[in-house]
Amino acid sequence: MICLGIESSCDETALALVEDSKVLASVLATQMELHALFGGVVPELASREHYRFMGPLYDALLQKAGIQAQDIDVYAVSRGPGLLGALLVGVCFAKGLAFATQKPLLGINHLHAHLLVAGLEYELEFPALGVLVSGGHTHLYKISAIDDFQVLGRTLDDAAGEAFDKVGKVLGLAYPAGQEFDLLSQNGKLAINASEPHGIPNESCKKRKQNLFPRPYLDNDNLDFSFSGLKTAASSYIAKNPQLLQRDDVQNLAQLQLMCAAFTDAVVETLCIKCERALKQHPDIKSIIMAGGVAANSHLRQSMQSLALRLGKKIQIPSIKLCTDNAVMVAYTGCLYAQKGLYHPLHFEALPRGQVIPHDFCEIEK
Ligand code: KG4
Ligand code: ZN
Repeated sequence: MICLGIESSCDETALALVEDSKVLASVLATQMELHALFGGVVPELASREHYRFMGPLYDALLQKAGIQAQDIDVYAVSRGPGLLGALLVGVCFAKGLAFATQKPLLGINHLHAHLLVAGLEYELEFPALGVLVSGGHTHLYKISAIDDFQVLGRTLDDAAGEAFDKVGKVLGLAYPAGQEFDLLSQNGKLAINASEPHGIPNESCKKRKQNLFPRPYLDNDNLDFSFSGLKTAASSYIAKNPQLLQRDDVQNLAQLQLMCAAFTDAVVETLCIKCERALKQHPDIKSIIMAGGVAANSHLRQSMQSLALRLGKKIQIPSIKLCTDNAVMVAYTGCLYAQKGLYHPLHFEALPRGQVIPHDFCEIEK
């Protein structure tokens, strides 16, 4: 079964063709540079860019895969959450194709697709703890089946990626800041380790390692997150240390790297503590699946792997290109659902961030 996946929920226009669990081809046009000029995604511009890219990318995809339009068996498209105008471009394009070819159509929950794509590289084991960490969302799920997701916890304010992006903006890093933040943090960690020969901390290291930032919203027994206070703490620290913004000086750069490492530690430790809590509250969970743009973070990947090892759980983190927004995840999820006989009628809706996405599939009678 060949599924065409379409992704246009934010600032990447992406299309992919997946045949069962084999990726035939994928194409992606990013708008990152355009939005970087404004320090964040401008919804109206995002929609227009999706509209401009969608048709040419579709043609390029078919050519790349060497298949004809009529070879496609099913269409899948991200229906939300995301920017409504941006989502509508993909959803309307997919509806047009499905209507013209009379092939089945599926509206895919973008967040679920982020997690399910791990199945392309690993054998998924349910129930799983789904850790979805992206620019707009931080969700913990209990995943009992490919179409059975229960939200255990979520961020009450900023998402983890948003925290990296907003603190990055204060530091003058380009949007989205996550990747550059990660590189700066890695250098900060190297500096700490280098000044700690044989792992024995000296006094100056101890001082530098002191937790600069709090581990927020842990003093409770729930599985929710709150990263906005942490972001404010980092912004105040930067305001008190304006030399962090002068990266042309080697010492200032070293200080910036240490600050980024400390901030990353605070985010990562908070995520790991709540995941451990979730696993203790739900002992039947067998594995951890972590995905979304922030799952590309090197320190988070290592820490989550260590946590899984310590607790004797399997861990499945998609490769980095499948962590950030892509259409392979949409096409693969489309294949999984279509194989189960699920589809959507043409009138299904796109839903913006903040609205619950209903489980409103129809089932093909066998
Ligand atoms: O999943 P995604 O591509 O888009 C959304 O659906 O939001 O996630 C984008 C987010 C951005 O906030 C970006 O800064 C963050 O993922 N990100 C990272 C890294 N790479 C991307 N955050 C931390 N470390 C990274 N290496
Ligand atoms: Zn995403």
